[in-house]
Amino acid sequence: MEKLVINGGNRLHGEVKISGAKNAAVAIIPAVILSDGVCRIENIPNIMDVILMAKILQEMGASVKVVDKSVIEIDPRGIRIPVATYELVRHMRASSYLMGALLGNFLRAEVALPGGCDFGVRPVDQHLKGFGILGAKHSVEGGMIKIKADKLVGGHIYLDVVSVGATVNIMLAAVKAEGRTTIENAAKEPHIVDLANFLNSMGADVRGAGTDVIKINGVKSLRGTTYSIIPDQIEAGTYMTAVASAGGDVTLKNVIPKHLESITAKLREMGVVIEEYDDSIRVVREDRLKRCNVKTMPHPGFPTDMQPQIAAILTIADGTSIVNEAVWDNRFRYVEELRRMGAAISVDGKLAVIEGVDQLEGAPVKATDLRAGAAMVVAALGAKGTTEIEDIQHIERGYEDVVGKLTAIGADIKKIETANDQTVQTAG
Ligand code: EPZ
Repeated sequence: MEKLVINGGNRLHGEVKISGAKNAAVAIIPAVILSDGVCRIENIPNIMDVILMAKILQEMGASVKVVDKSVIEIDPRGIRIPVATYELVRHMRASSYLMGALLGNFLRAEVALPGGCDFGVRPVDQHLKGFGILGAKHSVEGGMIKIKADKLVGGHIYLDVVSVGATVNIMLAAVKAEGRTTIENAAKEPHIVDLANFLNSMGADVRGAGTDVIKINGVKSLRGTTYSIIPDQIEAGTYMTAVASAGGDVTLKNVIPKHLESITAKLREMGVVIEEYDDSIRVVREDRLKRCNVKTMPHPGFPTDMQPQIAAILTIADGTSIVNEAVWDNRFRYVEELRRMGAAISVDGKLAVIEGVDQLEGAPVKATDLRAGAAMVVAALGAKGTTEIEDIQHIERGYEDVVGKLTAIGADIKKIETANDQTVQTAG
């Protein structure tokens, strides 16, 4: 078992290079299944979710070559059977993207029901509705979703809820369908645009990604490509809140400031100074943070994947803040952990009311999911004393080298291995 041990109170100074976007990478890797050639993917984050997704393709028959820590080449031509078993996909929510990619390529997909972060019911009804409009039928047997079609023909799909996953899956299933598919009320997240750009670089005809309406003109085949993934909006946002928590002056390199606007706006409201450059931002926090209210929304609103991290810093802001989680039903499980550190938070359904305290105090806590774990790190950096964070496998799913990156800007953070009641320290 591994833990993170953080001694809070060090101000953060220096530079952090942000990695490629997890949620783009986990859509783009399965999209490779649709190609007839080798895809070289650059700026890939070195995180568990990406390693797992590449491994799933490899075990299905693709050849995967790790060129270096941030570049992989995948040749999907060895994939013959469009089946992803529970053993392969159980740790990954994004494994649902295999449905769209396999269906789009083979007209058939059998994928075990997905796992991933647990914050309430995570339905796939909109994904299946989209596949149905394209001409596929589905059934659920023995924990597997089985989907097949004689042929896929473009259609008009209006999503009942703005869903990243459904938008991705329908794009994947439609790129090689006959004729035009229109997705209305589509998700507009940066990773949707990145996936569209990746598909277009393989020869697809996807237009309008980043707006409410995506139009896809089906093509017969897709070729191999070389593509560089966008920087991770949420990793960048997490480091912005880390600086807000601990105080200091940090420049984040390899970011797209436009993708960070909703986060930047909230942090400025809280008194954090943010300077934007072409592909970097400087984050400075000197004074005590001010309160603010936050409501999560699909892009370009404030991202739900930053909700726990901003809540973590609102616990030490002056005054009372309200956080409204409007995307997921149950994304406040981490609140109990922050309370252990002295935070004053009450939760009523989708609302959290946070009374700012002077400072949090270190405590043993756990990462209840990926972003909840990130929030624990953020809180611990500004807290007095030592915080030990358990269940860090959640954090490692989505953050590359968190110990190395934070150590480089002055944090006191270590990864500790605890085995047979003995504590062994490992390198960052
Ligand atoms: C993606 O999940 C992200 N995951 C999540 O990030 C993120 O929290 C979420 O989008 C919202 O931004 C990946 O990109 C891999 P949705 P996804 O479909 O696609 C409802 C992280 O921390 N819904 O946009 O699963 C659903 O219940 C992860 O990096 C339906 O009702 O989310 C939710 O309330 C965790 N029916 C809302 O839509 C459906 O068929 C948004 O879900 C699909 C979704």
